[in-house]
This record gives sequence, C-alpha cells and structure tokens, in this order.
Amino acid sequence: MSADSGEKPRVVTTAAEFRAACDAVRAAGRTLGLVPTMGALHAGHLALVAEARKRANVAAVTIFVNPTQFGPNEDFDKYPRTFEADRDLCGRAGADAIFAPTRELMYPPGFRTFVEVTGWQNRLCGASRPAHFRGVSTVVLKLFHIVPADVAYFGQKDAQQLLIIRKTVHDLNVPIEIRAVPTVREADGLALSSRNRYLTHAERAAAPALFRGLQRAQAMIESGERNPATVEGAVAAELSAVPEIRVDYIRAVSAETLDRPERLSGPTLIALAAYLGSTRLIDNIQLDVR
Ligand code: PAJ
Repeated sequence: MSADSGEKPRVVTTAAEFRAACDAVRAAGRTLGLVPTMGALHAGHLALVAEARKRANVAAVTIFVNPTQFGPNEDFDKYPRTFEADRDLCGRAGADAIFAPTRELMYPPGFRTFVEVTGWQNRLCGASRPAHFRGVSTVVLKLFHIVPADVAYFGQKDAQQLLIIRKTVHDLNVPIEIRAVPTVREADGLALSSRNRYLTHAERAAAPALFRGLQRAQAMIESGERNPATVEGAVAAELSAVPEIRVDYIRAVSAETLDRPERLSGPTLIALAAYLGSTRLIDNIQLDVR
C-alpha cells in the first residue's frame, strides 16, 4: 500500500483485501494511520490526512456514509456523495489508500449488534439525535476491526464524537491510538463541514455568528466568568441577534466528562448546535480554565 504524492490512491472495497494490505504494511515494520470519514471531503478532512502522513508511514482514508448514525428524518439520502472528487483530493493530500466498503459489508442482512457509550450518547448532540452516537461507535469499532491501524485521527470539530470514540476504544481494549486534530475554519471563522454546502447564500452569510458566539464565551471566561449558565447566555444572546439561526443547544461542560459543573474549571468544552434553515451545524471550542 503506497502511492507517491499526486498518484491516485488505491481503492479497496473488501475487508479481506484491506486487512491483507494493512498486514503487509505492519509486517514491513511500517505504521498505519487511519482517517475515518463519510466523504464529501474538504480541507478539515485533509488536515487529518496531513497529520496521518506526518506521523505514520502509510495513511489510509475510509469513506462510508454510515446509515446507522442518521435519524429517520435526517439527511442520509441527500448527504453529498462525491467519490471521484474525494479520490482526487486524497491523492493530492498523499493518502496511500481509500477503504470504501459497501453497505452490505458494514451492515450484512440481519445485523443486530451495536456499541453504546452509556450516559454520554444522549447528551449535547445526542439529545436531539438519539441513535447518532450509537451508530458512530458501532461503525468506528467495525472499521477498527477491519483495519488494524496503529493510529486513527479525528477532528476536534466533533468534540463529543471524539470523546465517545476515545471511551469506546479505552473501555473495549482496542489497540489503536486516537489523536485529535484542531478544527479547520473558513477565513470568517465558520468551521468547515460537508453540510456547509447545503447553506443558502443568506444562511452562509449568517453562519460565522456561531464561532463569534464561542469567541464571546472565551473572552468572558478569560476575563474571569466561571458560571456556565452566564457563559451559555452570552452565546445565546449573540446568536439570537441573527434571524437565520435557530439554536438547538449551547452548553458549557467539562471536556472530560460532559458534566456541567457549578463553576467552570479545568478542561472545558463550549459546544453548540444550531439550525440554519434545515441544515444543522455544530461547533465548539475547548479551553483550559484556571
Ligand atoms: P465526517 O463528518 O466525514 O468527518 C470525518 C472526520 O473529519 C471527523 O473526525 C471530523 O471530526 C473531522 N472533521 C470534519 N470537519 C472538520 C474540520 N472543520 N476541522 C477538522 N476536522 C474536521 O465524523 C464523521 O465523518 C463520522 O461520524 C465518522 C467518524 C466517519 C463515522 O461515520
């Protein structure tokens, strides 16, 4: 499994072929870095590939739009599927291989086994997307079983997902190291997301308010505010000034437990989700509150 930069990466669709390629990489004493994605790749995904390239000998990207992490009224059917463009981007980013499994491989007929990180999967995003994190943990664990990577890369943009994946791997003794990559943003602060392409012109113009709200929270905390409700209220005030935005949640919580403390201290996550029209976007910042 190797490709020089610019070459199209090899595309593998069967578990046996991908596992054999991974085994060959490791038998040669080389390390394998894995970047799980749902495709519709953008510069945020490519930052993960760059990190994998930097720290592992071989970088593989998985592309699979995972049906079990979408709710019945969500965007599974319209989720962008741009495989040819994704393959070109992976090639230019120097990925060595793409694993693009079929739905039948990931969810064979009669599939009925799921992984749940109890207590955490219903918080924050899980409150409005009840089966989402169960689907994420399950598909990521399946990918980790098919692809025995050394390291896997995930974006800080999906902070709750990252925490839940770390927990799954820790609790279930998966011998893969999880590394976080900072959120890549547009020049105006909007976090890159495959869903940004759903936004109308007016919604796109309004969307940077999400990050502005988070920056306002950061400024308040840096000037001494420690009450989570006050911080959340300030973010809400910033967003309520923008008619295109309908808030789903805004929470200031511990970045380690997702609990909301009486006073903010230590690693802290300010996370939000909001609808712009029918598009649901998320963003967050992490701070170490001293
Ligand atoms: P997807 O949304 O395609 O994201 C794939 C990875 O890219 C995730 O780790 C995500 O956090 C990261 N990412 C997305 N936008 C980013 C940005 N602006 N900056 C940095 N990283 C970013 O997350 C998923 O897919 C799925 O839930 C998956 C883990 C693949 C399981 O199906």
